[in-house]
Amino acid sequence: MHPIKKLDKLPPKRGKVETLEILRQLSKSSKALGELKGIAKTIPNQAMLINTVVLQEAKDSSEIENIITTQDELYKALATCGKSPTQVKEVINYRKAIFTGYDIIKKQGFLRLKDIETIQKTIIENNAGIRKLPGTVLKNDKTGEIVYTPPQEKDEILALLSNFLDYFNVNQDDLHPLIKLAILHYQFESIHPFYDGNGRTGRILNILYLIINELLDIPILYLSSYINQNKSEYYRLLNSVNKTDKWDEYILYILKAIEITSIRTIDKINHINDLLNETIKIVQEQEPKIYRKELVELLFEQPYSKIDFVVNKLNVERKAGSRYLKKLEKIGILKSQKIGREIVYINTKLIEILKKH
Ligand SMILES: Nc1ncnc2c1ncn2[C@@H]1O[C@H](COP(=O)(O)OP(=O)(O)OP(=O)(O)O)[C@@H](O)[C@H]1O
Ligand SMILES: [Mg+2]
Repeated sequence: MHPIKKLDKLPPKRGKVETLEILRQLSKSSKALGELKGIAKTIPNQAMLINTVVLQEAKDSSEIENIITTQDELYKALATCGKSPTQVKEVINYRKAIFTGYDIIKKQGFLRLKDIETIQKTIIENNAGIRKLPGTVLKNDKTGEIVYTPPQEKDEILALLSNFLDYFNVNQDDLHPLIKLAILHYQFESIHPFYDGNGRTGRILNILYLIINELLDIPILYLSSYINQNKSEYYRLLNSVNKTDKWDEYILYILKAIEITSIRTIDKINHINDLLNETIKIVQEQEPKIYRKELVELLFEQPYSKIDFVVNKLNVERKAGSRYLKKLEKIGILKSQKIGREIVYINTKLIEILKKH
């Protein structure tokens, strides 16, 4: 058995988390994130933007846990009320957990242990809560070798979580919040307070931290896709902080992830916004009688639309809702598809953007 090194409380020694290289990368990361914050503000319908980005994140983040859903399966499940396969359900739970967390911090401006438990419970859909029984270890997926043993005693877990929450909520020093985000993420994963769902819960805490610190106004920056693409590096670096208390490489990784992901998200937002404006123009020109801005925006809130959505959003009769969607199909904006007994209308160009970015 490998020697168990006790997890230290926060904060780490400043010199270990604020090297020259980290400060250089930090300035690039915070510049990109600042741009993302600015661009997000210019999008007229914030709900639309949040919805699409969060949906994508729910899919990417669940994939790290090997819950693979195809984009098509997911959108179909969201548009229809039928029973969805377990994997789809997990993705939908994750999305719900993001919104739950976002609502909590918007309302109260800080995070309590109870809130973390609520988020995890929403993802996992069970009441097991904080670990009570020993035995949880982190293993290498391929070799089965134990790579890290998190704290085992409930009292120790609770003490570390309380220290984590102090660092999360209270600005004790003038360390940059992006460096603190990296530290907090490591610490949360290493406390590993739950039997399962620690990764996904931790990735939601990241976005909440950005919002609490006003680095973003809305929940649109997610590192899951980057982590997915650089996964073995991610595990290796977490591991190396466990073993050697060397933080710099790990912090650089997270800062780099923030920079790259901000740039990619800006690009995605620009594409979506261009498509929205282009769609508005086409409808105005070719079907001026049915044109309403809210109608077009609805097509961007979820890539699949149906009559019910139009009825609810525009407060019109079913017959009118159906006619609008048919007309939009006729001019090539939507494509209908029968799923079970329902007809859904797909914004195919939006799906293309979401798949590519
Ligand atoms: N050596 C390590 N030290 C600290 N944390 C680690 C280490 N290796 C992995 N982790 C964390 O454990 C998480 C996985 O834990 P768990 O299975 O409870 O979460 P999950 O949400 O179900 O899975 P996933 O994160 O894979 O989606 C990883 O995402 C990672 O953040
Ligand atoms: Mg798991």
